[in-house]
Amino acid sequence: LWFTGLRGAGSTTPAKRVQKTILQRGLNVELLDGDVIRTNLSKGLGFSKEDRDTNIRRIGFVACLLARNDTVCIAAAISPYKAVRDEVRGLHQRFVEVYTYASLDELESRDVKGLYKKARAGEIKGFTGVDDPYEEPESPEIVVDTEAQTPDESAQIVVQRLEELGLIAAEVRA
Ligand code: ADX
Repeated sequence: LWFTGLRGAGSTTPAKRVQKTILQRGLNVELLDGDVIRTNLSKGLGFSKEDRDTNIRRIGFVACLLARNDTVCIAAAISPYKAVRDEVRGLHQRFVEVYTYASLDELESRDVKGLYKKARAGEIKGFTGVDDPYEEPESPEIVVDTEAQTPDESAQIVVQRLEELGLIAAEVRA
């Protein structure tokens, strides 16, 4: 399950909620979050296209190792480049791309950590969406609009779609 979207579009919170639900449905599940991966597995990588692609390939590789051990892997990274996302897709038997959308205006007004402000001021160079590209997914399996939805609603949409795709068991309602 691969969440992609601009920084702050809100992948992490829905991803964590989806993780919890998948666990409750009896599957092993691991979350690979870009911010966390960059503190260990991808420590030292920067934000050039090459480094971002390396980061995504590493996450994709670990996701493969997990998947072959019957563990659902949820990746959440900006992953701005389509080609490397598709490359990772090609490594997996079942790959579900989740595009977490929010407009740049909305993200700049939220700007919880002040990163967009710094990017606009030129203090951070090559910031995705400001002066670095984000290539939108062309046909993601799932799109969530985190501007219009709460994290719970986004998570619910993802879970429902996974049920429809037959990838997780539907909730047994009493
Ligand atoms: S990716 O492009 O390689 O997929 P990733 O999701 O791992 O990015 O990391 C993004 C995080 O790095 C952001 O949440 C933000 O905190 C931080 N960051 C630092 N510099 C940049 C930058 N130039 N562009 C985007 N994110 C940045």
